[in-house]
Amino acid sequence: MVGTDRRSVRLHLRGAPGGRALPLKSALDVEYSEFDLSCAQMKRYLITGASRGIGRAIAEKLAGKDVELLLHGRDTVALAQTRKVVEPQCAKVIPLIHDLATTRGVSDLIAEVGRDAIDLLVNNAGIAIVKPFTEITSIEWEQTIGVNVTAPFVLTQRFAPRMPPGSSSSTFFPSQQKQRSQTGALIA
Ligand SMILES: NC(=O)c1ccc[n+]([C@@H]2O[C@H](COP(=O)([O-])OP(=O)(O)OC[C@H]3O[C@@H](n4cnc5c(N)ncnc54)[C@H](OP(=O)(O)O)[C@@H]3O)[C@@H](O)[C@H]2O)c1
Repeated sequence: MVGTDRRSVRLHLRGAPGGRALPLKSALDVEYSEFDLSCAQMKRYLITGASRGIGRAIAEKLAGKDVELLLHGRDTVALAQTRKVVEPQCAKVIPLIHDLATTRGVSDLIAEVGRDAIDLLVNNAGIAIVKPFTEITSIEWEQTIGVNVTAPFVLTQRFAPRMPPGSSSSTFFPSQQKQRSQTGALIA
């Protein structure tokens, strides 16, 4: 698809009041608007914490011939393994090694991504300190806040406004990790 042939399809699944099923035709509301359906147009996706676990699995899902994957992590060996898996299916794969617990690491990542817009930001990198609440050190707390809260905030603030229409930022909130203090207060 080239030139002015740009459109978008959004599918809204609608249920009838009271949970009754609707005939398929009325349940699907197809809407066309400004968005490029083109498979030929290159997409740029940034995934933080892509060196292992969920981040690697997301990288494998997003890999495609029309996709430039920006894979972030800290562990160079593990990130290289992710790269090796997805590279044959991608137009381009760029590894980005930065520590997101530090302000410097986040700004270096932003600088390395560069001025070209990205189409998708997956804020996946995260830390889960699994130990009794009272034993968490201030350094562990600061790192957790840095990676799990500040980095996604700064990255989303930086990249989301410049994303093309139809793009999105997706954030996993690692704060699903919850710890109970001795007084019973729930810390999220
Ligand atoms: N697994 C679950 O059941 C679950 C449940 C709820 C939420 N989550 C959240 O989902 C996300 C992925 O979970 P996962 O199980 O795949 O975690 P994981 O296997 O521990 O992977 C965490 C990723 O985050 C990166 N990371 C950690 N600290 C970092 C730092 N200081 N700077 C840069 N990158 C850093 C790691 O990079 P390196 O290894 O290269 O250092 C790694 O790629 C996390 O945010 C996690 O909290 C997971």
